[in-house]
Amino acid sequence: MYFKSLTLQNFRNYDSLVADFHPNVNIVTGENAQGKTNLIEALYFMSLGKSFRTFRDSELIGFQKDFCRLKSVFVKDGDEQTLDFTISGEAKEARLNGVKLTKNSDLLEQVYTVIFSPEDLKIVKDEPEKRRRFIDRELCMMDPIYYRALSRYKKALLQRNNLLRENRPDKGLVSVWNEALANEGAKIIRRRASFIERLNTVSSGLHDSITQGKEKLKLTYESDCERADDQEALFFEILERNYEHDLFRRTTTKGPHRDDIGIEIDGTDARRYGSQGQQRTAALSLKLAEINLIREETGEDAVLLLDDVLSELDPNRQAFLLKTLSSVQLFITAAERSASLLEKIPAYRLFIIENGTIREMFDVE
Ligand SMILES: Nc1ncnc2c1ncn2[C@@H]1O[C@H](COP(=O)(O)OP(=O)(O)O)[C@@H](O)[C@H]1O
Ligand SMILES: [Mg+2]
Repeated sequence: MYFKSLTLQNFRNYDSLVADFHPNVNIVTGENAQGKTNLIEALYFMSLGKSFRTFRDSELIGFQKDFCRLKSVFVKDGDEQTLDFTISGEAKEARLNGVKLTKNSDLLEQVYTVIFSPEDLKIVKDEPEKRRRFIDRELCMMDPIYYRALSRYKKALLQRNNLLRENRPDKGLVSVWNEALANEGAKIIRRRASFIERLNTVSSGLHDSITQGKEKLKLTYESDCERADDQEALFFEILERNYEHDLFRRTTTKGPHRDDIGIEIDGTDARRYGSQGQQRTAALSLKLAEINLIREETGEDAVLLLDDVLSELDPNRQAFLLKTLSSVQLFITAAERSASLLEKIPAYRLFIIENGTIREMFDVE
């Protein structure tokens, strides 16, 4: 799939924006704080109905405005479709081809995006939470069952943690939440396990190509229950067993909300001991693997949003990325236009963003 156009009204610093895109490469340049990432954020919003920068939709509304609209036209299987959102205050409405969607999960499986920003280059080194968020985003986008299990799990976790903060919690009530957590948690664990297994296969192959066989990447799922036959029973038992400990800590210390992805390069934990170069290459392998997995799972090419990241990669990695992704729609933001980069791309559209306005550059000298 690819985006044909985007229309914004009162979104962040765009009072109004109308843009038509190239089906392959779109380069978005502009100085700092002009609105490049805001544009990327709007495109990303189409795939999950959420931002990657904030949990609060109201932050997306332009200052001093009371609503905002985002509309995209995308092409999927040769058909044009529209997806639009209106956010006013805390309320959000989504329409697909003009028909109002009743549940947030209805908008999944329409638009697929993968974002790659300098933040993601740190995914190998960062704390486990970042890696969990990476898996969650991916699985939520591809799998509505996962999306629902995760939101129920989060609600149950909040309830259990609230109880643990009480002076004398009702243990029976905690057990009720243990059951809910075990039930939803097992669904999450099973899906994460199979996702990471496939991610491992694909990303280790890519890593092999990027490093020309010099490094071996290996991903594993680190969870308390992953290997059990009955994850639900085991997780329930762990929650019950940890009651006193959790009470002391006043929080739920075990479960999928504490999982991690183990990342090894040549048998060494790359999260701790990898060099910066190794960690960045592994991050690139992971991101490219994401696109492959979405394609395997859904038959669709995701749109890759490269926010300020291409200039962070050396020319070899840049070339690898562009070559691997020749069939994928790319949005590339950069503060500066790089002649050596443009030379590598056969066809593209070039946009300049200035203080919340977009204009296309036709005469590229
Ligand atoms: N809700 C909002 N309303 C109006 N302007 C906003 C809003 N949120 C962020 N901005 C403005 O957007 C600009 C940052 O845009 P961004 O896309 O992050 O810049 P960059 O081009 O560096 O990626 C800042 O000037 C910021 O004040
Ligand atoms: Mg930016």
